[in-house]
Amino acid sequence: MPESDLIDRPAVRQKLLSVLERKSLLLYGPRRVGKSTELDRLVANPPPGRRVIRIDLEGHLHYPIQELAQGARRHLVDAGLLQLDPTDGVESVQFAGFGLTLNEHEAEDPWRTLEGDLLRAVGRSGGLVLALDEVPWWLEAIETKLGAGQARAALAALRRLRQRTGLQEGLRMILTGSIGLNALAAELGASAELNDLEQAIMPPLDSAQGAALFESELTAFSLPCTPQAAQEATRLAGGSPHWIKRLASLCPTGASSAAKVEAAVEQLLTPMRRNEFRDEGREHFERRHRARMPALLAILESVSHVDKGAPKQGAINAAISALPELTHAQAMECVFLLMDEFYLRPGAADTLDWVNPLFRRWWLLYGNPNV
Ligand SMILES: Nc1ncnc2c1ncn2[C@@H]1O[C@H](COP(=O)(O)OP(=O)(O)OP(=O)(O)O)[C@@H](O)[C@H]1O
Ligand SMILES: [Mg+2]
Repeated sequence: MPESDLIDRPAVRQKLLSVLERKSLLLYGPRRVGKSTELDRLVANPPPGRRVIRIDLEGHLHYPIQELAQGARRHLVDAGLLQLDPTDGVESVQFAGFGLTLNEHEAEDPWRTLEGDLLRAVGRSGGLVLALDEVPWWLEAIETKLGAGQARAALAALRRLRQRTGLQEGLRMILTGSIGLNALAAELGASAELNDLEQAIMPPLDSAQGAALFESELTAFSLPCTPQAAQEATRLAGGSPHWIKRLASLCPTGASSAAKVEAAVEQLLTPMRRNEFRDEGREHFERRHRARMPALLAILESVSHVDKGAPKQGAINAAISALPELTHAQAMECVFLLMDEFYLRPGAADTLDWVNPLFRRWWLLYGNPNV
């Protein structure tokens, strides 16, 4: 997407710049809130004195650690920050997803390859930001293929790189993840490997930013849009740029009233489009939280009748009815998990609100087929 079509998020950029002056950071936020987009902007407009590369780790990684090293190498070469010597070799092993190949020596020790490449790139650029996008995917791939111990070791290896002499000042990392990287690290017993990072949350668009995005999506096609319609779209989408754009795309004659936005919501929720929320739905809980899934589904079910203000106690009771072995504290932890992963947020006076009201409505229709 051209930079000029993006909504400015000065507070987010300012936060990133001010943290990067001092240390590396963990950037997390709801699905599709604009994390990757903001990282790409940082690549295009880097902090003073630094170059930025972003490596997307989402996908089906076969050799996760090698692919990280290889992805970094490819990006550093593309950015002119690394020149390969003949001894760096490009012949023997081709890894899926990345254009370059590793020689046998490097294939055996991808961490050493990465370390050497980063040292050279930092030397060349003076300062580098390595943005690793979707770290939880990468960690899960390591855990699945090589075991939890290796996933822990990988987080430790990243930390060692951040603290290595010669990289400590010159290298900053940004680790991102939509699905609680902290919680994943805690499950792996590796929380300590992240505790040198400052944490920054990427918030949804505020109402003015969201309305500006919705309006610009329509006016780009000379379609009408009232301020009320733009505000309603932002509210319904919980400020998510992805869902705001999706609603605009379902207003083929524009949004001359809030009713047009409601019609777009109905379009979005037709059975034909039920898979658009699949990532956030049951599939996610099956993949990440199988043991607690009945309690998590029951909590969402119990709060699904209103956008805002569902009693927290009702959610806790629902979790315990679904999984009677849970203690009150464990049921509460399930509620917190749904907050960590941006399904729910705390509301007024011991209540819970949905982060994305559109998702609530999707949930009612398709979320829990057992109900
Ligand atoms: N500042 C912005 N202005 C306009 N559109 C934006 C902006 N930020 C993000 N978007 C749009 O929102 C959608 C989601 O953005 P992006 O992929 O960056 O989110 P994400 O948080 O990385 O998502 P995921 O959780 O899937 O990794 C994209 O269509 C993107 O173009
Ligand atoms: Mg992303």
